[in-house]
Amino acid sequence: MVTEAMVRKCLQEVGVPGATRNLEKLGLVRGVTISGKKVKITLASTALNNEAQAQVKVRTQEAVAKLSDVGRVEIEFVEVRPSEINQINYVVAIMSGKGGVGKSLVSSLMAIALKRQGLEVGILDADITGPSIPRMFGIATRASGSHSGILPVVSRTGIEVISMNLLLPEDDTAVIWRGPLLSKAITQFWQDVVWGKLDYLVVDVPPGTADASLTVLQSIPVSGVIIVFTPQDLTAMIVRKAVNMAQKMSKPVLGVVENMSFLYIPEINKRIELFGKSKAQKMAQTAGAPLLGQLPIDPELAKLCDEGNIESYSSESFAFLAQSIIQMLSQAAAK
Ligand SMILES: Nc1ncnc2c1ncn2[C@@H]1O[C@H](COP(=O)(O)OP(=O)(O)OP(=O)(O)O)[C@@H](O)[C@H]1O
Ligand SMILES: [Mg+2]
Repeated sequence: MVTEAMVRKCLQEVGVPGATRNLEKLGLVRGVTISGKKVKITLASTALNNEAQAQVKVRTQEAVAKLSDVGRVEIEFVEVRPSEINQINYVVAIMSGKGGVGKSLVSSLMAIALKRQGLEVGILDADITGPSIPRMFGIATRASGSHSGILPVVSRTGIEVISMNLLLPEDDTAVIWRGPLLSKAITQFWQDVVWGKLDYLVVDVPPGTADASLTVLQSIPVSGVIIVFTPQDLTAMIVRKAVNMAQKMSKPVLGVVENMSFLYIPEINKRIELFGKSKAQKMAQTAGAPLLGQLPIDPELAKLCDEGNIESYSSESFAFLAQSIIQMLSQAAAK
């Protein structure tokens, strides 16, 4: 006797054109009914154009027909909104009251660290006018989809990425939009993208506390916020601004990360505080949240970012990020 579990297991082998994850992980399987030797499978057609649907249909039929005791395999496509498909456990927003402090870098390293723990991870690049995630990951392909949804592009190590750059004809096309359009794009990255089943979605929030950041906190169900800063003079004000914003929107601040904290010179085994004395502990107090870590200035890291090779960065200094975040979020959830 064929069971639903057996059929669903087969569906895990069915790849979706334009995506690396299978039907089941993308959440596209909407129902399986079995009557005698006949199996009927209902699939969401979301983000699949006609050609992709035809391919998925053939692949599904072939995969399921391999089971013994299966006679006819019927496939039905239904239109479902991405928001009904997506199952995302935690959404973490990376913010700062200031530009250029390393938000995109921390977002990327965090996603990489979580992925290395074997989790399903996505990055939503909410910086519409200055997207930098695809460049750091060396993603040159474009996102695919249909009128009903967009499929994220997958990085080399399997992180799902959506960014304005992946939708533009050329990398250097300028997006010259006003606030309302930017907000609309951010909302669409949440609502119209087939994220499927994810453990973590990391949101790279644009700099400052203006419109776009507000949209992220308003229209995306953010589980918690992480604030990035550097040890420079205006740090306290920058951190306070971001904290105030998170608090106003009733989002918990999970922790703070100090970037460019120090420069380590191995030859003399010395740490130099290039941008001044670390303010990490004080900022953690200001934010009323733990210090999740301090990242050094690492020329190797800057080079890997420029080469689009950030996923090959191996350093102990950020492995803790994943661990701290998992811990913070499970504590917050328990509360
Ligand atoms: N710890 C570090 N070591 C070396 N280079 C770094 C470090 N942090 C950031 N950089 C470099 O500085 C640049 C700016 O970082 P990043 O793009 O992450 O900042 P950002 O806060 O996202 O900026 P924006 O506000 O423009 O979005 C990047 O090109 C990155 O390579
Ligand atoms: Mg950035």
